[in-house]
Amino acid sequence: MKKLRCALIGATGLAGQQFVAALKDHPWFELTGLAASPRSAGKTYRDALRAPNGMLGWFLTEPLPEALANLVVVAGDQLDPTKYDVIFSAVEADVARELEPRYAKTLPVISAASAFRYDDDVPLIIPPVNASHSELIRKQQQQRGWKGFIAPMPNCTTTGLAVTLAPLQAAFGVKAVMMTSLQAVSGAGRSPGVIALDIIDNVIPHISKEEHKVEVETKKILGAVGVPDAVKVSCTCTRVAVLEGHTEAAYVSLGRKASPEDVIRVMQEWKGDPQTRTLPSAPPRWLEVTLDPFRPQPRLDRDVSGGMATSVGRVREDGVLENGIKYVLVSHNTKMGAARGAVLAAELLKVQGFLAESSRA
Ligand SMILES: NC(=O)c1ccc[n+]([C@@H]2O[C@H](COP(=O)([O-])OP(=O)(O)OC[C@H]3O[C@@H](n4cnc5c(N)ncnc54)[C@H](OP(=O)(O)O)[C@@H]3O)[C@@H](O)[C@H]2O)c1
Repeated sequence: MKKLRCALIGATGLAGQQFVAALKDHPWFELTGLAASPRSAGKTYRDALRAPNGMLGWFLTEPLPEALANLVVVAGDQLDPTKYDVIFSAVEADVARELEPRYAKTLPVISAASAFRYDDDVPLIIPPVNASHSELIRKQQQQRGWKGFIAPMPNCTTTGLAVTLAPLQAAFGVKAVMMTSLQAVSGAGRSPGVIALDIIDNVIPHISKEEHKVEVETKKILGAVGVPDAVKVSCTCTRVAVLEGHTEAAYVSLGRKASPEDVIRVMQEWKGDPQTRTLPSAPPRWLEVTLDPFRPQPRLDRDVSGGMATSVGRVREDGVLENGIKYVLVSHNTKMGAARGAVLAAELLKVQGFLAESSRA
């Protein structure tokens, strides 16, 4: 099978580097174009990754792929759309708002950025949870007169929460959710990022706009196509001195009474949308439930199934909420919550017929 040719905007950032790793040796996609800010344009990828002090800012433990290290990075608005079948985007929302529509005129744009997440004609897809929401793409193309489209991924904190709520919603109904997050430093990216002096030995009790994103996105994802779910969502998002992996303590009011054992069984047996089971990036199970009261922990559990599975533990009855259940989850923010989640969505969209070589102008 001929691979689809992909370009990546924001290739030097933390999410961008995870895209590079996720697309390396991918059976369906080949990364052939890299873009970043004007600061990086004209440099090889390796040089664009260098900090002013000369240190290579490659953040991952796996080596920088040699095949890309000498590729010249272009400015985000300088990719030639006729050379690609798909654009992946990992830039901040303000940059995405300007760049993504340019490419979406002719190409599918699959994005980690929030710029278009809340538009009525834009799906917010987590493949195992709401694969059918991709039908909004046709509406988007019609309304905007585009041959391509924009498919953004949810916020990385929303992803872990929504994946755990989906089987509960299907089995028992979900009326309300309260959640407190303990989010990793990598979630803030490199620019501006979180300063070590502020985060070491500390917890920062506010992440700008994060709580609103989780509340709105959870409803959109769990709802029917184009109709947000009625679930009430309230959260507190904090930043902690953890490198990768968001931990979340969730308190859920179910539609009907269920025991912790029922919840554990439903989560363990949940297979997600059938279309996702054979996708190359799909893990064996979307949810890994542990009975060990000291798990999940970000350091130990974030990389389960290549960072694509959400780990759940401490499932208990909650005596305050009606039909209350509470649990702790760990989800990898730059893998399932960003780049690998976006590549998974691209795989789904390919299977659904939204990505093809012929989609080029
Ligand atoms: N980090 C996470 O856990 C995570 C999770 C989910 C979603 N996201 C989303 O992913 C996006 C990227 O986040 P990040 O954490 O990777 O941020 P980051 O580390 O700060 O990277 C930002 C990237 O954007 C590039 N960029 C900046 N201005 C640009 C411009 N005018 N044109 C083209 N490229 C430009 C930067 O290139 P230079 O190196 O040249 O400046 C860099 O490659 C954000 O929208 C974020 O919300 C991140």
